[in-house]
Amino acid sequence: MPRGFFITFEGLDGSGKTTQLRRLATALEAQGHSVVTLRQPGGTPLGDRIRSILLDSKSEAALGPIAPLAELALMFADRAQAIAQIIEPALAAGSIVLCDRYTDSSEAYQGGGRQLGSEPVLALHQAVCSNLQPDLTLLLLPALKSSLRRARNRNQRHIQAEGTDENRFERESDDFYRRIYEKYEEIAAREPHRVVAFRDDATIEQIHAQIKNTVTARLVPAHAL
Ligand code: TMP
Repeated sequence: MPRGFFITFEGLDGSGKTTQLRRLATALEAQGHSVVTLRQPGGTPLGDRIRSILLDSKSEAALGPIAPLAELALMFADRAQAIAQIIEPALAAGSIVLCDRYTDSSEAYQGGGRQLGSEPVLALHQAVCSNLQPDLTLLLLPALKSSLRRARNRNQRHIQAEGTDENRFERESDDFYRRIYEKYEEIAAREPHRVVAFRDDATIEQIHAQIKNTVTARLVPAHAL
């Protein structure tokens, strides 16, 4: 059984990565591939609990301010569980794993946004994730302004439709998001083979086509589309 292929999606809130992940999963499944999808934080029962602590804007009213390093450590606790419970077994079974956010998010949000720097993030990745790297990372990086507008609209709709509030990060300042954006740029420049950035403000369909081309070119022949 050949080992599977690990693809992560990255970008700011509102970058459209979740829509693109679903579109790619459907396309790959239609080609007969076994596809496993998950998101971070979350995706396992433990991870879903961690997600609600980290994303609910009411958490800090109940728990007090969450220290940036505690936030980082919780992101990695979630990730370690997802690797053990979902990602490694799926790769061993030959599946294509599509993960909505991974360690680049910790580097961008906690390293950049919270100003912890890249070093503790990369050290934790080494220690807690056995340095498991994606085979390919699809980074959706449309202009910062349009991403912010979409993220803020989306969260209002989420609260109205579902009554759940995953607003803890979206309440942050534009400067916080600028630092995240810059850190994503830095990661893309540092690892150009792994990270492919999509910067156009193109339609969902156009980006989907570009993503499919990129994935087709990277999949080993055993997984070819
Ligand atoms: P999303 O599932 O809507 O993308 O939201 C997840 C939020 O959690 C998003 O604001 C980014 C944040 N996040 C981090 O700050 N660090 C991380 O390591 C991960 C995975 C997510």
